[in-house]
Amino acid sequence: MTRFIVTENYDQMSEKAALLILRQINKKDNSLLGLATGSTPVGTYENLIKWNQQGLVDFAAVKTVSLDEYMGVDENDEQSYRWFMNDNFFNKVNIKIENTHIPMGKSGDIELECRNYEDRINLLGGIDLQLLGIGENGHIGFNEPTSFFEKHTHVVALNDSTRKANARFFESVDKVPTHAITMGIGVIMAARRIVLVVNGSHKAQALYKSFFENVDPMFQASILQYHQDVTVVADQEAMQVINDKKVVYNDFISL
Ligand code: PGA
Repeated sequence: MTRFIVTENYDQMSEKAALLILRQINKKDNSLLGLATGSTPVGTYENLIKWNQQGLVDFAAVKTVSLDEYMGVDENDEQSYRWFMNDNFFNKVNIKIENTHIPMGKSGDIELECRNYEDRINLLGGIDLQLLGIGENGHIGFNEPTSFFEKHTHVVALNDSTRKANARFFESVDKVPTHAITMGIGVIMAARRIVLVVNGSHKAQALYKSFFENVDPMFQASILQYHQDVTVVADQEAMQVINDKKVVYNDFISL
């Protein structure tokens, strides 16, 4: 089942998403959070940092697993997702860094790294809440459009459109890695709860296709229609196509 929280703008989207995470931690202090990289969740992390400093949420027992990492990029490299997560979140809250897990993009045996990463998630008891962003091509994590849904954590070749979209974090598009490790769709779908954050009119078509067209691996986020507990937190701009088509969606009113 999918519920929508529609907000005026990015800041409100970020606050609502952060509130859902705060509630999860306050309900279960050693929650395993699945976390996303990218521009969209940055505001969510900023709220959590602020509330952590104000003593409203405690990360001392929280554990995290990230969705993905660029291949061939060392964790000490500023372009790595490890660096991004440390810089935008982990270094600013009272989380224990050893409780934060991200695939190693520069591992010698990448297949083994994928298997180990997934085993670790299972050993940690499975993901309580998975925060997701979405790509314009429908990717979640780095699960790019293809003819099937890949269950397990795996190596993926990044689409040109994804590399172009992420070029803003690099000197040029040529510098964007060609491959990444991503949690598989099966791992994401096994999360007990999913919170998808979406903002901006450039994501409006993707949001519509995810929930109101056929489930199709060429648009990987559409698999979320089969998850039992998805909360979409979207700003007005991201809701444009859904609103234009006048489709009916479940409003989430308890926030
Ligand atoms: P963005 O990326 O938040 O930077 O738009 C989302 C994604 O590609 O999953």
